This record gives sequence, structure tokens and C-alpha cells, in this order.
Amino acid sequence: MYVLGIETSCDETGVAVYHAKRGLLAHTLFSQVELHAEYGGVVPELASRDHIRKLVPLIKQAMADAQLTSSQINGVAYTAGPGLIGALMVGASVARSLAWAWDVPAVAVHHMEGHLLAPLLEPNPPDFPFVALLVSGGHTQLVRVDGIGRYRLLGESLDDAAGEAFDKTAKLMGLGYPGGPALARLAEEGLADRFEFPRPMTDRPGLDFSFSGLKTHTLVTLAGTDGTHQDKADVARAFQEAVVDTIVIKCRRALRETGLKRLVAAGGVSANRLIRKKLAELASRESASVHFPRPEFCTDNGAMIAYAGCRRLLAGQRDSLEILALPRWPLESVTP
Ligand code: KG4
Ligand code: ZN
Repeated sequence: MYVLGIETSCDETGVAVYHAKRGLLAHTLFSQVELHAEYGGVVPELASRDHIRKLVPLIKQAMADAQLTSSQINGVAYTAGPGLIGALMVGASVARSLAWAWDVPAVAVHHMEGHLLAPLLEPNPPDFPFVALLVSGGHTQLVRVDGIGRYRLLGESLDDAAGEAFDKTAKLMGLGYPGGPALARLAEEGLADRFEFPRPMTDRPGLDFSFSGLKTHTLVTLAGTDGTHQDKADVARAFQEAVVDTIVIKCRRALRETGLKRLVAAGGVSANRLIRKKLAELASRESASVHFPRPEFCTDNGAMIAYAGCRRLLAGQRDSLEILALPRWPLESVTP
């Protein structure tokens, strides 16, 4: 079964072709980062218009890379939400229309399901059940995953998502957009132990997160320095360590509370080098395994949507002709 996957929920146009037995055959991506950079964040209307420009050429390229013609495609998967409504509408309309024209099924995929299944594209994929840490620009969640579509939320951020905290903190430090990777790079130049940052909500039970206070803490800490490059790097390091430590503490708690020995980390922030290192250390201490997507599949991409769609089509899912675009769509409400 050949499945075309389309991702347009935010500022990346991603397209991929996945085959149930042959694996990933092609993936193409266009990032709108430069388009939004001058505004310091994603401008939804510009995002939608650019998806319209890029999507069909990327589909043609992915099909050519996979050396397939349209008659060989057995299904089309698209991100139906959550995300920016205009951006979602582009991918959903194109995907649904292609499926109709090619007379194959279309399947609406939840963006976060795509993320949490992305590590299954890698060698030695984990079996179900596992604990998934989802850390992206819009979500920070710990989820118990018992199978495709069988998700139980264990905890989530009560305010900023981890990626959002990275981005907002980077912005107030003058690091531009997108700030997360820039802040992470700067942190690598920072000295250890110069500043002490809190580990929010780790002193009480539960698996929820709160990251918005770390922004303010960064601002106040920075104001107490001369604002040199080294000062900024030291603050960035303390900020990154606080976010990562907090996440690691909650992951340890989630593994112990569920008794599970498999941890999956996915979403843009799981590309962060420190988080990958610290979660690998945690897993070895807990005699557990940890699974990440390759860095390029941590952030938004079409491969994870093609993969999730293929699993759903193989399980017999057939959606109606409706073009589905759901800006808000709780992960727990997806069907198994
Ligand atoms: O999953 P993603 O591509 O989009 C959403 O679904 O939100 O995640 C993007 C987020 C952004 O907030 C970005 O700053 C963050 O992931 N990010 C990182 C790193 N790479 C991407 N944050 C920290 N360190 C990184 N290396
Ligand atoms: Zn995402």
C-alpha cells in the first residue's frame, strides 16, 4: 500500500510517500521560516498562501522521487488538525480532492499522532504500550500510548508549551525567530552553574507542566547582568537546563507511575541535543528504552503523516468525502 502524506498545519509544507512494506520512499519539505522571520512569528494568512504555492509542486516532486505515478497511490493522508485553520484547509482540500480524483481513500490524521508515531519510522521501533513525551511549539504533553488511537493524557502544560517557552524567551533575549534552535545553540557556549533557575511544578505530585514563569525569570536574571554575549549565553544555558531538567523529572515520574519501560520523545523540542542526552541517561538509569525520531522528523514533516495514515488505512479506516480541518482537536478524542 502506497500512501501520500500531506502536512500543512503551521509553517512547514511537508509531503511524503510511505509504503507499508518498503518504508519511506520520498519526503519533501518547504519551511516558511524566512517568510515569517521579519514579523518575529508565524503570520497565519501568509502561511496559508504559501502552502497554496508550494504544495502541488512538492507533491509532484515527492511522486517523482518515489518513482510513482498517481495510479499507484492507494491512499492520501493529511493533517486535519490541530493547527492554523487556513493552513489546514489548504492541505485538507488538496488531499481530499486528489483522493477523490484518484478514487482512493483519504484519511484525516491528528498532527500530534503524527509526531508521536514518528519514532516508528526509525530502526528498532518501540512496541506498544509506551509513554510519549510530546514537546512542540504548541503542545507539551505526556501520553500513555496503548496502540494507534489509544491515547490517555497523563499530563500537559498549563500555560506555555516547551517550544513556545524557548521561542518567547529567545525573542526577549533578542535572538530572533525561530528562537528555539538559536537559544539552544547559544546555551552551548554558556558556563554551568552561574545562575539558578527553578524547576517549575516538580515539588508537587502530578505530571503537568508550567513554563511561563521561566520567561520572566530569564528577563529578571538578564537585567542583573551587563548583557554581554557571555552573560546571555550563561542565562541561555541556565534556562535550557531548567526546561530539560523539568521535563526529565516528569518523564521519570510518568515511567514509574505507569510501570512502562519504553519512552518515546517527539515534536520540535525533541530535536534539542541536551534533551536527547538527558533522556537517554534517564532511560539507562530506569532500565528503559528511549526512542526519538531522527532530528529532521522531530519538527513538522510529511513523513509522520504518511506513516500514521498508512497505519490507519491498513487498520481499515475509511473517512467520508468531508474535507476535515479542525484547529482545536484534543488528542484523546481521536478514534482507535
Ligand atoms: O513540532 P514543531 O515543528 O511544530 C509544532 O507542531 O509546534 O515544533 C516547533 C518548535 C518550535 O517552538 C521550535 O523553537 C522548537 O520546536 N525547537 C527547538 C529546537 N528545535 C526546534 N527547541 C529547542 N531546541 C531545539 N534544538
Ligand atoms: Zn508539530
